[in-house]
Amino acid sequence: MRAKAAGMHSKDCVKVAVRVRPFNKRERDAGSRCIVSMVTSSITIQDPRESQSRRSFCFDYAYWSHSGFTRDRGGLYVPEEPGGRYSDQDSVFQDLGEGVLENALQGYNATLLAYGQTGSGKSYSMVGYGPNKGLVPKLCDRLFQAIRENQDTRQCQVFFSMLEIYNEQVVDLLSRGSRTPGGLRVREEQQRGFYVEGLRTVPCDSAPQVEQLMEQGTRTRTTAATHMNANSSRSHMLIILQLKQIFSKESITKQSNINLVDLAGSERQRSSGSEADRLKEGTAINLSLTTLGNVISSLADVAVGKKVVHIPYRDSVLTKLLQSALGGNSRTVMIATLSPADICYEESLSTLRYAERAKRIQNRAVVNESPTERLVKELKAENARLLQRLSRLGQEGRRANDETKELRQLLTHNELQIRAIQTLWEQHLQEALKDWEQQYANITQERRMMQMHPYILNINEDTQLSGVVKLFIQEGEWDIGLCDSTPRYISIKGLGIQERHAVFRNEQRRVTLTPLAGSKVIVNGNSVSQTTELQHLDRLILGSNCTYLFIGFPSERGGDDWSRYDYDYFQSELAAAEGIHLGESSAGSSQTDPSLLAVFYDFIKLMPMVAEANQMSQELNKDVEFKLEIKNLALSDSKGHDLKKEIVIIVTAVGRKQVWMWSKTKFVNRKFLMEDAYQLHQAEKSRDNIAEGLSTAVLPRDKDPFWDPVEPLLLGSAHLWLQSLAFRIPLEEQLEVLGSEGTEEAILQAQLVPCTSTGLAQGEDDILIDPSELLGRRLDFQLVLEQCCGLRWIREARDRGVQIGFRLFDCSHPLYSPAVWHNVNPLLDHRVHFASLHTSQRLLDYLQSSAVVLELWGLQEGCTDLVSSLEGVRMTAEGIFIIEEAGPANPAPVDCSVRAQQDMEELKSVNSSLRKENHILREQLNAARNGGEGVRGRSVRPSCDAEFARSLKVFYHSMTSVRGQLQRLRRHRPSEDSDLLGFRLFVDEQSRLLRDFSEQLEQSVSTLKQDVAAIVRRKRERSGIWS
Ligand SMILES: Nc1ncnc2c1ncn2[C@@H]1O[C@H](COP(=O)(O)OP(=O)(O)OP(=O)(O)O)[C@@H](O)[C@H]1O
Ligand SMILES: [Mg+2]
Repeated sequence: MRAKAAGMHSKDCVKVAVRVRPFNKRERDAGSRCIVSMVTSSITIQDPRESQSRRSFCFDYAYWSHSGFTRDRGGLYVPEEPGGRYSDQDSVFQDLGEGVLENALQGYNATLLAYGQTGSGKSYSMVGYGPNKGLVPKLCDRLFQAIRENQDTRQCQVFFSMLEIYNEQVVDLLSRGSRTPGGLRVREEQQRGFYVEGLRTVPCDSAPQVEQLMEQGTRTRTTAATHMNANSSRSHMLIILQLKQIFSKESITKQSNINLVDLAGSERQRSSGSEADRLKEGTAINLSLTTLGNVISSLADVAVGKKVVHIPYRDSVLTKLLQSALGGNSRTVMIATLSPADICYEESLSTLRYAERAKRIQNRAVVNESPTERLVKELKAENARLLQRLSRLGQEGRRANDETKELRQLLTHNELQIRAIQTLWEQHLQEALKDWEQQYANITQERRMMQMHPYILNINEDTQLSGVVKLFIQEGEWDIGLCDSTPRYISIKGLGIQERHAVFRNEQRRVTLTPLAGSKVIVNGNSVSQTTELQHLDRLILGSNCTYLFIGFPSERGGDDWSRYDYDYFQSELAAAEGIHLGESSAGSSQTDPSLLAVFYDFIKLMPMVAEANQMSQELNKDVEFKLEIKNLALSDSKGHDLKKEIVIIVTAVGRKQVWMWSKTKFVNRKFLMEDAYQLHQAEKSRDNIAEGLSTAVLPRDKDPFWDPVEPLLLGSAHLWLQSLAFRIPLEEQLEVLGSEGTEEAILQAQLVPCTSTGLAQGEDDILIDPSELLGRRLDFQLVLEQCCGLRWIREARDRGVQIGFRLFDCSHPLYSPAVWHNVNPLLDHRVHFASLHTSQRLLDYLQSSAVVLELWGLQEGCTDLVSSLEGVRMTAEGIFIIEEAGPANPAPVDCSVRAQQDMEELKSVNSSLRKENHILREQLNAARNGGEGVRGRSVRPSCDAEFARSLKVFYHSMTSVRGQLQRLRRHRPSEDSDLLGFRLFVDEQSRLLRDFSEQLEQSVSTLKQDVAAIVRRKRERSGIWS
């Protein structure tokens, strides 16, 4: 291809549009706030945590599709009132689509890219849903309209291709043959640049035909997706329209490529890139997207005059194919889609930054001329010359038979070539039309079947791929499974699907489903093993995660809305059956705590992935099991606050009894690599016909996503409250170490011992009544870890060990007790001396309101012990850990209620009066002693301070146990498989715990009040000082 004329060169910046979609269900449930605003083409985003922090961006277009719309009778989203601010699909097309079309008709290459987070509306804008057609179908519609309108002046040819890039492999979505293992090859030619070898290009001459092809492509995508549950969130979809225009009069041919790209969800790029994992490098999940980002950044740098040595087009398949669109011969538009919800702030901001960079890219688009048409032109010119020569030969009257013959032969040859070139298109078109008619007949047939029989409809995580596959259950008995050889079968593919998985029976207007031995079938969230009668709109999960909606007989259907049974619905139902659900109040209200909601959605998102990982592990003989767990972050919070929860994945090597705990991100990353390993195994299996179960994946251990070196595991934790230290009261506790799900992991005996700087324990006389006396003074104490009892971790497997980790006040790294092995009740006998050289208010506040979190770490054979890092730790020569040196007092406000503060004030004033009185009494005593009555007086009148200190000690001890009770209450949950009876028992137990808790609290407070009253009374009786 070459430019028609040098004068046609032009510099074009990539045009960028942003579009904001309405809230989705999750965002509405979470009571999300809209943090995006728009004025003409500028968009402002506000940081939800800091109302003052705003960022504004200016683009070529900004579309507000968040609010101000209504759904008309045909299901079309339109502005609430004419001229309203809502941007519908039409208005987006008018700006962006028309421009692309105009460019293509002029002979320029054109590219339209949609970029944004998963679920932000890329596919909605590009392809659309139902009547709300997106840019691609609208563009095709208008393209063929323009072709019809201009058919007097030019003849047009349109070729359509559709491909997917998943994990750097190119899949032809229109291919009729079987899938090429490893995908199609991307080749490079000097003239053409990069192209996909062997990609099917279908000649088209109408918009319905293109729509039909798109449907076919989506179907291919869906079946591939259900097989491996890859979805569009992870793959890029590319539609290539080649438009060839032949202007016979002018003897010009223009050719342009229109690339329409629906990119993979952008957030994965960050999530998989942010966490350290041994196998991070191996992940190609986002290589294309990451490289696209790098290419855009480099090009943006070029545009502002920075020196850029290399633009990494060749690093990924996507950037190779889009080379001309980015910094090359194309007019390019990017639509960046975003959610306006506060919970998506980070992602939306990153999308806007990305779009801003893309805006700077400059292309050099040229009008292209086709070599084929030039050939026709040249052949025609040559023919004209030949004819001229022939006529001249005739005129000259000379007998030049040989020459005439030769010229005539040449002429015929040329004519044939011209005709061949011109008829090729006609022929292709005829073939494509025949193909299309066949497809059309299939669709008509499918529509008829839908009106006659019950069927199951695929539901995919990606809405775009949902409802694409319909499997009909006609009268009689049908096997469903991988099988395609039994007489009556419905063939499906997917993880955990057996050769013969289950049997559908359609008899006497009833449909039943019978799972076959060993196969997984779930109906409406519950696992079934017996014949089950299906009702209209029942939800089926076959194998590890093939999800279908059952559509009953036409007479049962009515006008119900099936759209609510989306992928989330299936997974929530499954989670509910496992005991994980949102509270009743959550439906449609804004009461659910957003962080809980996030955990819930994480859970239902990860659940099917875990099922798939388990299935792959089983098929690959990996002996590894995955399980989701909700980790309560209160476990490691020094104040025991427990609002935050997060999901972790517990990985168990069953045979070896090894356990790991993976973060969500690590699991998602690894799952992708597992899919790779699994596919490799499948390919090998089909090639070598390996007997099932004999092979394990061929990966070496260090590349195996199912394997990790063993490492210490956080089993649980206990809170040892520090308040008693503020009064220099020793504390001895038997602590329950609780796992993240509330299980008792062990009992830990621990002590806090106030001591002298030489480590001698202090006695009752050193107890302080007013902690503020510590301010500015030295405080020494020891943390003693005596013994662990009943270690569940060791009981399960004897070749294990444990360590206790803890961190005090400002220490940045935890300290660990030495490892103890093979013992269920090991003696720890670990003592650490801490000192504050100059106690500040901040430390005092910390002591009064916090606990030291004692973490129980499980060691497994082969893993190294945890070592205390002494980096940044200050120690005395005697090995005392200094938690606070000198420093300005920090008057941080104490976080306590007004009531507690009043009580505190009262106690303080009582204390100071008691001290005053004590002082006087001491003086009186001294005077008396001098008079010879010292011994008697002292024994009869014990020191008020000591008496008061003792009652305080009792009080703080009882408060520690009250706190323990509160912790237990917070973590108390019904067991996962609770039925109604289970819930009743749970509620009874909960009430009992609550009763105990309040009784203990009441008792502690009233004992303290009584003690104080008694002390005060005794003083009054003894002297008339307060009368
Ligand atoms: N402008 C809009 N108006 C109304 N609904 C929208 C709009 N944009 C998106 N949606 C809805 O949001 C949902 C998610 O949109 P869509 O499937 O387009 O996301 P996506 O960006 O393609 O996500 P993925 O990366 O997973 O493919 C769909 O149900 C879609 O109907
Ligand atoms: Mg999509």
